[in-house]
Amino acid sequence: MIFGRVKPLDAILATAEKKSLHRSLGAFQLTMLGIGAVIGTGIFVLTAEAAQKAGPGMMLSFVIAGFVCAVAALCYAEMAAMVPVSGSAYTYSYAVMGELIAWMVGWALILEYAVAAGAVSVGWSGYVVGLIEHTFHMDIPNFLTRGPYDGGVVNLPAMLIAALVTWLLVIGTKESATVNAVLVAIKVAALTLFIILSVPVMNMDGFSPFAPLGFAGISAAAASIFFAYVGFDAVSTAAEETKNPQRNMPIGLIGSLAICTIFYMLVAAGVIGTVGAQPVTAGNIPIAQGGIALAPGSTELSAQCAALAKAGTEAVTCSKEALAWTLREIGWPQIGNLLGLAAGLALPSVILMMMFGQTRIFFVMSRDGLLPDFFSKVHPVYKTPHVITILTGIFVALFAAFFPVGILADISNSGTLFAFAAVSIAVIVLRRTDPTRKRPFRTPAIMVTAPIAIIGCMYLFWSLGSDTKLMFVAWATVGLIVYFAYSRNRSHVGRGIVDVAEDDAAVPPQPVPPLPGAPTPGGKDA
Ligand code: ALA
Repeated sequence: MIFGRVKPLDAILATAEKKSLHRSLGAFQLTMLGIGAVIGTGIFVLTAEAAQKAGPGMMLSFVIAGFVCAVAALCYAEMAAMVPVSGSAYTYSYAVMGELIAWMVGWALILEYAVAAGAVSVGWSGYVVGLIEHTFHMDIPNFLTRGPYDGGVVNLPAMLIAALVTWLLVIGTKESATVNAVLVAIKVAALTLFIILSVPVMNMDGFSPFAPLGFAGISAAAASIFFAYVGFDAVSTAAEETKNPQRNMPIGLIGSLAICTIFYMLVAAGVIGTVGAQPVTAGNIPIAQGGIALAPGSTELSAQCAALAKAGTEAVTCSKEALAWTLREIGWPQIGNLLGLAAGLALPSVILMMMFGQTRIFFVMSRDGLLPDFFSKVHPVYKTPHVITILTGIFVALFAAFFPVGILADISNSGTLFAFAAVSIAVIVLRRTDPTRKRPFRTPAIMVTAPIAIIGCMYLFWSLGSDTKLMFVAWATVGLIVYFAYSRNRSHVGRGIVDVAEDDAAVPPQPVPPLPGAPTPGGKDA
């Protein structure tokens, strides 16, 4: 029963053939696409969380998370090239492992996309609030800019940005090729400037002790910082538009992840070597003397940070805008503000992509009969799935209003890791069950790569905090209840309706920001 109700791959592919896209992307464009989709809250904000979990050892955490992403991405790309249709991991699982697994993957993707959009909204809020406070020399009260776990009541700016992005999606805004290119340039320039100003003035003392919380701390930070790499699946899903995918796909995936890893490590080194990255402890007792590191996103850490700020000995791990804060500390206050502005401009596009991805998954699940019909209702004027976009926006705004960025990022990672592991399994299964099917891209050394990807996802999942894992299990349980109480009986596949999605034009376009010169699937540039 678990693997029953497989949606025939040929029916899925019939949809894809209807909208096959021109192959125009080369290795360079793919790499840029990856960098654009990946850089966001992870490096700008979660660096502080990673330092709190691992200390300077977070540099290793970036390498571990980047490596797991790279192997998972190679598996993802084989599926994406073979089944280039909406719904990504959910659709692949439906075709290979049946409806129940597909449902669980789709349900986990809600965590990946909607919760991640909430996390990025909170990250955006931290930078914009810091920018306003430093530019206008004013103090915005914490109760309006932080959630209850973080020493506040409600994060209003995060709610506002989530609402604004929802509105943009409802009226059908798509990022134009030019806007995307400009935002990639802004993000890369901001990080480059940070590296240029911080790395040359590093002091090696900051790196000692390197791993105050041991390898467990490094693993925990890797599980959180995994968030900084999420989004690379945008490259895999562009497989359909790639010239010579067998050559260019691995270059695009590995290239963008390698470049991001190098950037992230240099940024981390810049933080560690200038302002130090030792975890904040209860009572400020050094870990070597038995001090206990406080959990990121906890009220205890928030209270200790407030005490440190009062004493004038703030730590980077307390900052909501780690990179801007570091620049101000090392004597570049204006550049710190500029970096805040860069984050303020660039992060909304990450929120847009995440929410876009979410509405698309809901749309496909609704079209398969697993979610109510009104989820796939399209607005008569804007031609967007407005009902589900608004519903998604409400949840994203609520997550953003009340939860700290680290907790949201960890929850999002749990869903993403589950989905990536499922896809890696699906790739191996399909090689066995359907070996002759045309594969525009084949994962190199699949029998090594896929198991490493699966084990890597499991290891990172295991390294998440116990609250996060519990939350994931609770979410999965709710998912199972919804499936058996509602979706199973209404499933189109279950009822023998194998729709080839004649109305695929109504599906929101691919969640891939187009590049200059690239065809824009499903629509024109905004
Ligand atoms: N990788 C994206 C970010 O860090 C999700 O914001």
